[in-house]
Formats: sequence, structure tokens, C-alpha cells
Amino acid sequence: MLDTPAVILMMRQFLDQPSVEAVERVLSLATSDLAATLGELAIGPDEVSEVAGQWDELRRDETWVALLAALLTTVERQRGSIDAPIPIWPDLEDAGPSGRLLYFYLFALGCPGVKELLRSEGCPEHVIDATLGVLARHAAIHRRKWGTTGVDAGWWMLPTLRGEIVHIGSLQFHRVNLCVGTLSPNPWFSEEEMAHLGEGFRRGDPSIGIHIPEAAPLAPDQLDATFDEARRVLGSLWPVHQRRLATCQSWMLDDQLKEYLPATSNILSFQRRFTLLSVWAEDDWDTLEFVFRSPGTALEDLPQRTTLQRAIVQVLEQGGHWRARTGWFDFDGREPA
Ligand SMILES: CC(C)(COP(=O)(O)OP(=O)(O)OC[C@H]1O[C@@H](n2cnc3c(N)ncnc32)[C@H](O)[C@@H]1OP(=O)(O)O)[C@@H](O)C(=O)NCCC(=O)NCCS
Repeated sequence: MLDTPAVILMMRQFLDQPSVEAVERVLSLATSDLAATLGELAIGPDEVSEVAGQWDELRRDETWVALLAALLTTVERQRGSIDAPIPIWPDLEDAGPSGRLLYFYLFALGCPGVKELLRSEGCPEHVIDATLGVLARHAAIHRRKWGTTGVDAGWWMLPTLRGEIVHIGSLQFHRVNLCVGTLSPNPWFSEEEMAHLGEGFRRGDPSIGIHIPEAAPLAPDQLDATFDEARRVLGSLWPVHQRRLATCQSWMLDDQLKEYLPATSNILSFQRRFTLLSVWAEDDWDTLEFVFRSPGTALEDLPQRTTLQRAIVQVLEQGGHWRARTGWFDFDGREPA
């Protein structure tokens, strides 16, 4: 696990230099405006008051101002460039309140710009609202994990603020060029297989990456409605003139789950929508994270309340592993050209 100085170094190496304009925006954002924006983003009043209460403190520290302004500068320069790398770095949990609360400030400063972009692209207002709900969801996960105010997996806010992820119905949809975007499924088909499978599967082909938010309503009829709406919305928001796949890489597509969950389970019915690749990456870490949200807890101390929790622990105790499997289906329903 990287310590705080190492994470900050990693961030600085990735990020652009802060622009003068971004520094100015950080320094001039009034606490009352910050609080109002966070309230509109469905952050609870106690959390708003804690985040707002730290704002002047952060702004007295040039190092935090520079880091926040560098995040804002980079997000805004990369907005619209879906191939730009997405950094996946640890949260600044141990960096004091300014580090723990950093992504609230970034989100408040960056959300008017992403709203404007999505509106200009014709994204429906209710989809924009649902998309910006990501901050409150990640704040709730943070509270559940650590009992404090913060934003879990703060790096996930960057592609959202860049405008390339939207929340429709139950799921998040990410505009990704295959094998190019950082979050494109990996492993994917070999060069030979891509050439054989053709349009839709090739390096650089447009695709829709699917992400499953915490507590997403995943009943089959809710997913049918989600995909119907997503096809409508994304058909005009991110139109393509060729075959386009939806892809997903997740512990939820591990077919070992079939041995433990009932066929009626939402996870299995989600899984059945996809054709799975035969290659995979073992990924116990993410599986434990998404099922328990209790990092560092020994296997024997993890809760065993649900069928899934019991299955995850049982396989690991027997020396087995969980896998992040990748699956695909035709998103636009277009057959091969
Ligand atoms: C996606 C999600 C909402 C599905 O939950 P669901 O609709 O209850 O799924 P199922 O119907 O398949 O559940 C089958 C069993 O597993 C349990 N289960 C499902 N997801 C669980 C989770 N994240 N943690 C603990 N138990 C879980 C259910 O409670 C049920 O057990 P039970 O019958 O003993 O109560 C849930 O897994 C979740 O919130 N995951 C976090 C987000 C995530 O993992 N995203 C993927 C990132 S790659």
C-alpha cells in the first residue's frame, strides 16, 4: 500500500501544471456556493457542513491549492478526449481532512463544466442528475467503510467529470475505444481473434463499457428497461455508424458464482446477458472490496450474512480465486456488417 507522499507524487507526475485560472477558481469559490452545490448533489447536511468547514483551511495551504487546481486543470483539458489515460490511484485517506475531502472540492468545481458539456450534447436532464449522483454514492461507501466523511475511489470522479460516463436507469455507461481507453477490458481478444471477429471487436472500435453502481436495482425487468433507455439515449448522445459492443469486466461475471448462487439471482441473470471471453484475470482484491467494503479484514472475520459472502470466503479458504471475467453483447443490436 502506497503512503500519502507516494500517492501525492504519483498524482503530481500524472497531472498537468495547475493553470492560473484554475488556481484563481479554487481561491475564489465562496464557502456558501460550495455548500449550495454539494447540497444540490444530495450530500447530507452534516457532511456539507464538514466539507465547507474545511474549505478555508485547505485554501490556506498552497500545496493543497496547487494539487486541487492541477486536478481541475487536467480534468478540464481532457474533457472530450476519451482516449486520455485515466489515473487509478489510492485515496488520500491518511493525509488529514484536506486530503480526505479533496474530491468533494474537485467535484463542486468541475460539475458545472460537465453539466454544460452533457447538455450541449443533448443528454436528458434526468440522466445528467443521475450521473452527478455518483458523488453522493461514493461518499456513502466511504462512510460505510471508514465511518468518516470522504469520497471512496476518488479517481472515479475524474472520468465522470470529463463527461465520458453517464448513469442511465440502473447502470453506468462509459464511452470507450476498445484496447485504447484505460478502462477497456483487459485481457481482450488476441490480435488474430480481433481480425477474425471483425467490426466492433477491433482495437480502436467504439464500445460502451458497463459499470454496476453500488446497490443497483438489477432485477431482469429493471435491466431490460435500463438497456432500452440506454440504447435510446446513447444512440443520439454517442452515435456510431458501425457495430458497437457493450462490454463489462467484473467479478459479477465470474461463472464460478453459478455454483453458489440460485439461478434466479440478479447477478446470474445479469451475467447471462453476456458472452464471456475465455481469458480472465484473477481478482480476489476487487471481489472482496465490492462484496465486503472492509479492507484489511482477515477472511475469518468477514461477515457471513449472505449467500454471496459465504461463497466468496469459502472459495478463498479452500485456496481458490475469484476472477474478473469479461463479457460482451451487441449494444445497438446491429449484426455484423
Ligand atoms: C450489484 C448488486 C446490487 C447485486 O446485488 P443483488 O441484486 O442482491 O444480487 P443477487 O440477487 O444476485 O444476490 C444474490 C445473493 O448475494 C447477496 N449479495 C449480492 N450482492 C452482494 C454484495 N455486494 N454484498 C453482499 N451480499 C451480496 C444477496 O444478498 C443474495 O444473498 P441472500 O439470498 O443470502 O440474501 C450488489 O452486488 C452490489 O451492490 N454490488 C456492489 C457494486 C459492484 O460490485 N459493482 C461491480 C463492480 S466491478
